[in-house]
Formats: sequence, structure tokens, C-alpha cells
Amino acid sequence: DAAEKGGYAHYMLKEIFEQPDSIWNTIRGRMDSDRGNSVLSGLNVQPRDLAELHRVLLIGCGTSLNAGLVGEYAIEDFAGIPAEVEQAAEFRYRNPIVGSKDLVLAISQSGETADTLAAVREAVDKGALVAGLVNVVGSTIARETGRGIYLHAGPEISVASTKAFTSQVSCLLMIALKFARAARMSRERGVRFVKEIEAIPDQVREVLKQNDHIAEIAENYIKAESAFYIGRGYMYPVALEGALKIKEISYIHAEAFHAAELKHGSIALLTEELPIIALVPDGPGKDKTLSNVAECRARGSKVLLVATEGDDEVNDYGDDIIRIPAAPLHAAVIPATVALQLFAYHVARLRGCPIDQPRNLAKSVTVE
Ligand code: G6P
Repeated sequence: DAAEKGGYAHYMLKEIFEQPDSIWNTIRGRMDSDRGNSVLSGLNVQPRDLAELHRVLLIGCGTSLNAGLVGEYAIEDFAGIPAEVEQAAEFRYRNPIVGSKDLVLAISQSGETADTLAAVREAVDKGALVAGLVNVVGSTIARETGRGIYLHAGPEISVASTKAFTSQVSCLLMIALKFARAARMSRERGVRFVKEIEAIPDQVREVLKQNDHIAEIAENYIKAESAFYIGRGYMYPVALEGALKIKEISYIHAEAFHAAELKHGSIALLTEELPIIALVPDGPGKDKTLSNVAECRARGSKVLLVATEGDDEVNDYGDDIIRIPAAPLHAAVIPATVALQLFAYHVARLRGCPIDQPRNLAKSVTVE
């Protein structure tokens, strides 16, 4: 067991530290830096399909659902194709309007999640183009979709998903790039986009170097009974994933809000005992989220910020700060998430939780 964990105390920590490599394995051989495009042959979506595409639907559960939201934003942002993320069970049971001009991306680490599989079958029956974003080779969703992209993240043992998420997001960025280049993105922008994706593994390395610092910060939050995670734009799915991680492994109640939504009700819950984890990397939305942070601090909340290296503007807004390298926000999703994975890990460790086998959770939920 110890040997399998490669010297790490838990599979989760090992998998967090594997991410520079697992992300690289996801993108390797799939980027064309000269053409500024991605090469995703398994997706098998032809230019003709793309020209006629009405919409991209992204479905999944849990962490895979959170990755889907990043995909929704990136596909709309860069390719200008309407995209929508939906919880797989909801998609399955509300009789969705979906047909041959819709592409359904089924996102699943295991490829076996019952709700996602049922949604795939529904979409296939309705004649949609259905592709899988799956980690486990030969899994049911991979077989039944017949087209898609394998994550190549390697086996994920920890129940709480880490490297699968960052590989899913990497895939979704490559899909956004491919669709954007077929639609409206210039070659020059595509070349830069490829560089932005290729820079991610090194940015993750920079976050991992702060492991000890993050472990120290974690000590300040282990007594919390509840925590709020806030972000905007690309940082909203990061808030969702950060909150999910801490719930799963530390048993601290956490909720993620779009930063603008906080004042529409939940702010009533703020007390000195309730910390805020705010995603404020440099880019669109930062200043607005900082003003939400100021509102929280005025109510006595302790604040942990995830902010860009060298951005001193944020210093007065947080009690603790985790720094991530400067990057456009669609790419910063990944290092920011890694920072929150480490934070959740250390909080759970200090609280003495069984990190790799949290109570009530299964790695793969194969019943509806
Ligand atoms: C379970 C796991 C989660 C995972 C979700 C979806 O709930 O505990 O970590 O995100 O299933 O799994 P999938 O294999 O479809 O990505």
C-alpha cells in the first residue's frame, strides 16, 4: 500500500502531485502549435457537423459536472457556439430538446456513472452526436458513445477526484480551441491559445511548491463548521469544485456561490465563524469579487484569497493568500483548482479525516 502511494501519505496527495504529468499526458500529441489548433481525432466531429451545430450540451455528475461548466464558458467564449451544462440525471428525466444538430459531451472519470450513462442513452436515442470525455479506457460510456477523448490521466484511486478534473478541463479547452478555430478564431490567437494550454503543467508545479505554505494556512480554518467559496466567470466553477472537495474529505459544510449572488440571501449567514474562500486572480471580475470580499470582511469573516503572483492590490483584502502564476482566466482555472485541492487536503488531514475513503462516498456511483 505504502509503495503504491509512492511515498505520499494518501492517494489523494499523490494524485494532486501527479497533475503536471497527468495534464501533460492529456494534451500531449493533441496540440498543433504551428496551426494554432488541437488535434482530437477521436472526437470525430467534422467541419460539416460543426457548421450545422446548434448547441453543445455538457453532462456529468459531481466533479465532472463542475468541469462541464468550465467547458460551457470556454465553448461560448471562444467558439461562439451556444453551450449548456446540465446535471446528467436532470437531463435524463426532464425530456430535453435534443436532436441531430446537438453535440452532447458526456463527462465522466469512470465512464460508469449510472446517471451519466442513462443520459448518454437518452441522447443517442434522440439522434444527437454524443461524445465521451472519459478516463477509464473501455468503460461503458466510452463504448456506448463510440467517439470522444480519453483523458489519459492515469488511474485515479482517491474517491475525491483531482487529476481527472484538471484533465477534463484541459480536454474542454482543447475542444473549445478546435471549435473556435473552425468558427471565428484567428490562427494567431490559436497559436497563443496552444501556448496558454501548454503552460498549465508548469503553473501547476508552481502551486505544488507552495504545499507547505498551504498546509500552514489550513491550520487557520480547521475549526470552521461552514465555509463559503465565491468566484465569478471562470472562477465560479473553481469555487464549486473547491467547495465540493472540502465537503467530501473534511466534512466541513461548504457552499459555493457566484460572488454576485452572495448578497441575495446567503450573506445573512455571515458571522466571524464563517470563513470566505474567494477566487480573485487578475482578470475580468476581480475587482467586483474584491468588493464582495470587502462586504464579507465588514461582517467579521476571515478570508482566504486565491490571487495572482505579484498582484499586491489584493493584499488588504485577505487574511491568507495563496498565489497562482499569472495566466488568462480560462487557463488559471487549473492552478486555482489545484490550490484549493491542497487546501482541502490539509484541512482534512489536520482534522484527522480518512481522506482516501470518506464516509458515505463511492468512487463511482453505478446506481441511480
Ligand atoms: C462520485 C465520485 C465523484 C465523481 C462523481 C462522478 O460521486 O465520488 O468524485 O465526481 O461520482 O463520477 P464520474 O466517474 O462520472 O466522473
